[in-house]
Amino acid sequence: MNLNVRDTALRELMDDPQCDPDRLDATLRRFGTVNRLVSGWGGVYRTHLRPHLAGLGRPARVLDLGCGGGDLVGRLAGLARRDGLRVEWLGVDPDPRAHAVARTRERDDVRFRCTDSTALRAEGERFDAVVSNHVLHHLSPQELADFTADSRELSTGPVLHADIARGRLAYGLYAVGIAPLAPGTFLHTDGLRSIRRSYRADELQRALEPADAARAAASGAETRGGTGAGGAGAGGAGAGGAGGAGATAGATSGAHGAEGTRVWRVESPAPFRLLARSTGRA
Ligand SMILES: C[S@@+](CC[C@H](N)C(=O)[O-])C[C@H]1O[C@@H](n2cnc3c(N)ncnc32)[C@H](O)[C@@H]1O
Repeated sequence: MNLNVRDTALRELMDDPQCDPDRLDATLRRFGTVNRLVSGWGGVYRTHLRPHLAGLGRPARVLDLGCGGGDLVGRLAGLARRDGLRVEWLGVDPDPRAHAVARTRERDDVRFRCTDSTALRAEGERFDAVVSNHVLHHLSPQELADFTADSRELSTGPVLHADIARGRLAYGLYAVGIAPLAPGTFLHTDGLRSIRRSYRADELQRALEPADAARAAASGAETRGGTGAGGAGAGGAGAGGAGGAGATAGATSGAHGAEGTRVWRVESPAPFRLLARSTGRA
């Protein structure tokens, strides 16, 4: 197995529409525990979401794109409630199997819809912030371009896409740590396949740049904080090795633009995590 390159040929078992529904249901329900352990959303909420939402001085709306079983949006809603913030949360996922699980987590301030980013954008929806978790590595280059552009159009504030950082540490820790949670689920196989499909920070930075540059050129749209600064080719298969704790690809990698000119900034807040940040255009 070679972790120096993305293995984009791998498919996750749960992405098969014919997969065992009981195992899928158990997998989606256990994502909550897995995400708490690996995703780092407590820190992302405190650093990026809470200050923005608190500063609005009015009730806010936040969107989780590709919410799966809905655990992240439920968790963020709990954190915001504890902080006394009034927020309406919407989780969307086009997969009806995921939506069925997510709906069991609905509350007054947490709603779910079975739809996707492009349909929401066509409806003219707007949110004060848009987030996603572990979606980017699933997407083809074209889907990545569409998804990230949609996310910026849908947000008037921060756009925060968290994902796994590919690497030996992530692979080794996950292989051992998932054992108690894995029985009856796809978590073991799909988690390891996810890591092998995932980006490193510099790869994701390169993958995001051409999409933004092309779209900005096509629409002539001005982007807040500067426009995309050209790309270094479709990312994804590079063998680059950023991704250590604290690495910030947006500030340090690539020869196509200085810090501050990029639409996306990709950080690696821990050796097994990526966070792609941008600002909405809406
Ligand atoms: C691996 S799941 C992640 C689920 C959840 N966010 C989590 O962390 O457990 C990726 C999800 O993204 C959804 N997805 C893919 N493209 C999307 C799009 N354009 N808009 C919204 N959701 C999308 C898929 O249906 C899938 O359920």
